[in-house]
Amino acid sequence: MTSSGPKIILILGAGPNIGAALAKAFSAKGYQVASASRTPPKNNDGAALHIPVDLTKPDTVPGVFERVRKELGGEVGVVVYNAAMFKPDPADPLSLFAPESIQTYHDSQSVNATSALVSLHEAVKSFRNLAASNDASKTFIFTGNMLNLKTLKGMLNFGLGKTSTAYAIRYLVENKIYAAEGVSTYTSIPFFFFFFFFFFLFSFSSLGSLSILSEAALNKRSQTDHSYAPDKRFYYADERNADGLPVGNAVSGPAAAEEYLKLAEQEEQGPWLYTFVKGEGYKDFETHGRL
Ligand SMILES: NC(=O)c1ccc[n+]([C@@H]2O[C@H](COP(=O)([O-])OP(=O)(O)OC[C@H]3O[C@@H](n4cnc5c(N)ncnc54)[C@H](OP(=O)(O)O)[C@@H]3O)[C@@H](O)[C@H]2O)c1
Repeated sequence: MTSSGPKIILILGAGPNIGAALAKAFSAKGYQVASASRTPPKNNDGAALHIPVDLTKPDTVPGVFERVRKELGGEVGVVVYNAAMFKPDPADPLSLFAPESIQTYHDSQSVNATSALVSLHEAVKSFRNLAASNDASKTFIFTGNMLNLKTLKGMLNFGLGKTSTAYAIRYLVENKIYAAEGVSTYTSIPFFFFFFFFFFLFSFSSLGSLSILSEAALNKRSQTDHSYAPDKRFYYADERNADGLPVGNAVSGPAAAEEYLKLAEQEEQGPWLYTFVKGEGYKDFETHGRL
């Protein structure tokens, strides 16, 4: 069943920094905000609904989406997964995988990867239920860091989680997994125009012309691929300093709110690896290398 209810954002791992800034920015844009974390927010940050959840338990995530559906009367159009669990590794990082400490690894994977992947699955289910007429975007944003590209001592466990989620997001975007679902008119109009133009041209031409013309239409299609606007979009967002280094504890709620709002409102799939600098926006740091 499709839903044309209110525009809704769900923030999983909503805390006093990025979560609170997102709640404020998105509610100012008319979104109903649902936040989820273990502790209820102290101040009213603009969230219409707070759902208690422990993301070390991925099987509780579908229930969060169900509560949003029931209590806010619609499907989520924007999902931000912001939760993270970080504990420095033991001196011997592989001792993490010894039977007595493997639970730490499992909990970290649950928060940094498995619950994020379950959220991705639930988000796509919700996006499919949104009516085509609903102007809410269908955007999933994961708050990441540099660990999907660089190794940092003491962060094997943390990096394994962030990297798993980054891989899933990159996989969905690079392979255009959902591109065939709900192609927006923005890109489909030029395609159908070219298709019918060449179809009618073919009616008056020889069979030999067909392969050339249809090939031209297909070439045109692939040339316009960069402006392909899938109706579901996925991002791994990573705030950096202007020199490309990690922002660490200086991670900015307002900067994330500004960038995530931009991503939620734009029609095209931007770079899945959305590295950005406070006050400057997206910046490509590819030269810093990747795994
Ligand atoms: N780009 C960078 O270099 C960089 C630097 C720093 C941080 N970050 C990323 O930014 C994000 C967090 O930033 P922030 O400043 O918004 O942190 P924050 O204010 O601490 O918010 C994160 C929230 O996640 C919730 N959370 C943690 N574990 C949870 C669990 N098991 N179940 C449910 N909720 C849980 C916490 O709420 P409860 O404790 O109430 O559950 C917390 O309030 C993380 O993804 C982190 O990796 C990136």
